[in-house]
Amino acid sequence: MQLIFRRADARPPIEHIDTETPAVILKILPDPFYHGGLGASRSLGRLGIPVYSVHEDRLAPAASSRYLHGRMFWTPDPDDADQLRQGLLRLAADIGRPAVLIPVDDASAVFVAEHGDELRPWFIFPAPPHNLPRRLADKYLMYRMCRELGVPCATAALPTSLAEAQDFAARIGLPLVAKLTCQWRRGHAGALRSTSVIHTREELVDYYGRCEQAEGTTLLLQEYIPAGPGDDWFFHGYCDSRSTCRPAFTGIKERSYPPHFGVTCLGRSVENERLRRQIEELLTRLSFHGILDIDLRWDARDDQYKLLDFNPRLGAQFRLFENTAGIDLARAAYLDLTGQAIPAGVPVAGRGFVVEILDPIAALGYRRRGELDVRSWATSLHGVTEKAWFAADDLAPFGLVCLRMGWHGVHRQINRISRDAVRPRYLEPRYRPGRAPRGAQPEQDERP
Ligand SMILES: Nc1ncnc2c1ncn2[C@@H]1O[C@H](COP(=O)(O)OP(=O)(O)O)[C@@H](O)[C@H]1O
Ligand SMILES: [Mg+2]
Repeated sequence: MQLIFRRADARPPIEHIDTETPAVILKILPDPFYHGGLGASRSLGRLGIPVYSVHEDRLAPAASSRYLHGRMFWTPDPDDADQLRQGLLRLAADIGRPAVLIPVDDASAVFVAEHGDELRPWFIFPAPPHNLPRRLADKYLMYRMCRELGVPCATAALPTSLAEAQDFAARIGLPLVAKLTCQWRRGHAGALRSTSVIHTREELVDYYGRCEQAEGTTLLLQEYIPAGPGDDWFFHGYCDSRSTCRPAFTGIKERSYPPHFGVTCLGRSVENERLRRQIEELLTRLSFHGILDIDLRWDARDDQYKLLDFNPRLGAQFRLFENTAGIDLARAAYLDLTGQAIPAGVPVAGRGFVVEILDPIAALGYRRRGELDVRSWATSLHGVTEKAWFAADDLAPFGLVCLRMGWHGVHRQINRISRDAVRPRYLEPRYRPGRAPRGAQPEQDERP
């Protein structure tokens, strides 16, 4: 089918795209508030491409997008390659013809690269070196790769004991940044965030203890890179089979949740040629193929962009970027993988992207730190062109995510209240000397 697609604004149209081949947006870790997959479904769906996507449950807000032709509800074990392969083969059977496969989380990107060969008759996807996505997504392996290739990065260590962790802190100094090496195994890490800042020795002891108890994850300690506003950068791109990045975009993370250490809530597209060249050169050396999203921080101490995080897949805020030909990364990947030319263009400067359900909460955090007031918050939202959830032509995901956020908040509150209600029971001594019957043993305090 040939489709002529015209955008509402004055930019040149994307013309004569063959939209016959379906696309599958693959996410295997449960996270109903993840918006990257929704952006991809909308971007491809608006071109008329039949889009299918994988969701954790029937109430996943992104699953309600009108741009989806089909949905699969599934929470597989990310470590069970057989289960993943079987599930994808079932989806392929339903679709009935080869589809472009777009992973949107680390777990699916690593699985597809390492175990995807048998899926090739049914799915079309890039072919980077098999172990490359794991070496990039694992924060310690990425650090070692940076060291080997001479890429600027923050000094890091993988302590195997508390003493080693304390030794690293003594050498590098506090604060430190603590990260979980494999984010795609976060499910095992309970309440631990993937990235936290550690200010004191006591916090280090506490964090180390909690990590030891979190099965299947490993703690990475990293030098803290001081920065000011506008020093957190990202690079988003699509590399073709020759590892040529087209298109490539750079932008600034303006706000995150939690403040300064978390997911992007507000981002802006800003051209940075030096950074773009630095990353493009690295991608060629790595023989990277596919979509990528990199976080960096500019370090004023030595005037270098330090690589912090390499996501070998579509990043959540990828819709921040589009070129003047109307091409974003999902479209570029689709076109290239289906053998079509990627229309050339230059990045549209000054685009803004906001995660509207998180940014007000993030802004409160910045306000508490004295870094933002209501007026500067309002000003910061000027020129925001893209919202993570709200789209006038596709309202259901936004409605559902608001409901689900509300429910999530109430649920957390109930949990907190009921925890508080039971806490005194555990704090009360359960044996009172002098009142126990003769011969009775004191009961054990059951406080966890
Ligand atoms: N070593 C560091 N020093 C200072 N800030 C950091 C450091 N590492 C991460 N950050 C901050 O935390 C954010 C998230 O870190 P990142 O490594 O990308 O983790 P995640 O896996 O959560 O995306 C970064 O964009 C940056 O703002
Ligand atoms: Mg990151």
